[in-house]
Amino acid sequence: MAYAHERPLVDSGDTYERAFGKSQKAWLRPFGRGDLPPYWQAVNDPEIARFTGHVPPLAFEEIEAWYAHCVMGKEGSLDRYFSVCAPGSEVFVGCVWLWNSNPLDGHCELSVFISDKSLWGTGIGTEAVRLAVEHAFDELGLEKVWLKVDAWNERAVRSYEKCGFETEGRLRRHRRTPEGWSDMLVMSVLRSA
Ligand SMILES: CC(C)(COP(=O)(O)OP(=O)(O)OC[C@H]1O[C@@H](n2cnc3c(N)ncnc32)[C@H](O)[C@@H]1OP(=O)(O)O)[C@@H](O)C(=O)NCCC(=O)NCCS
Repeated sequence: MAYAHERPLVDSGDTYERAFGKSQKAWLRPFGRGDLPPYWQAVNDPEIARFTGHVPPLAFEEIEAWYAHCVMGKEGSLDRYFSVCAPGSEVFVGCVWLWNSNPLDGHCELSVFISDKSLWGTGIGTEAVRLAVEHAFDELGLEKVWLKVDAWNERAVRSYEKCGFETEGRLRRHRRTPEGWSDMLVMSVLRSA
C-alpha cells in the first residue's frame, strides 16, 4: 500500500527513498547521515540516556560505526530507522526504530525517544510509535511488534498502551541504572489486536 503523502527525500545520505508517515502530530522520515550529530547529542544527554539505556559518553565515531553497521548494513532486511519531525518540518526531534526484525516469525522490536524535551508529553512520541506500528503491519507485513521498557517509565508505558501494546511479562532486575536495578516490561502489539 502506498501512502498518498509519500514524496521524494532530497538528502542523498538517507537510507530509504521516501518519507512514509505524516499526521497532525508527527512526521516520520528515513533516518539519514545528517541526523547523526543531533542523535549523538541526544544519546549523550544523561536525562535521555536514563530512559533509553545508553551509557554516555559515546564518541561520535561509535555512532558512525553503529550507523554503518546497523542502519546502512541492514538494507535488504525489514529493519527500519526513522527520524521523528514536528508536522511541517524535517528537523530531527527524535527517532523510532523497527529493528531486530525476524521475517520468519514476523516480528520486530521497537525503540523510540523524543530528543527535544520540550515535546515530551505533547503526544508526538505516541504518534510516532503509532505510525511506526502501522508501517510494520501495513508495509512490512509483520504480525507483531514488541519492545522492552523500564517498569518505572510510566509515560512510555502509557504511551505504548495507547498504541495497543499489552504487557507480556516482567524481566526482573534486567537493567543496571545509576539509581539501581530496574525491572523491565516486555510489551507487544499484534496485527489482529
Ligand atoms: C516515551 C515518549 C516516546 C512518549 O511520547 P510522548 O509524546 O511524550 O507521550 P504522550 O504525550 O502521548 O504521553 C503518554 C501518556 O503519558 C502520560 N504522561 C505524560 N507525562 C507523564 C509523566 N511525566 N509521568 C507519567 N505519565 C505521563 C500522558 O498523560 C499520556 O497519557 P494520557 O494520554 O492517558 O493522558 C517520550 O515521552 C520520550 O521520548 N520520553 C523520553 C525517552 C523514553 O522514555 N523513551 C522510551 C524508552 S523505552
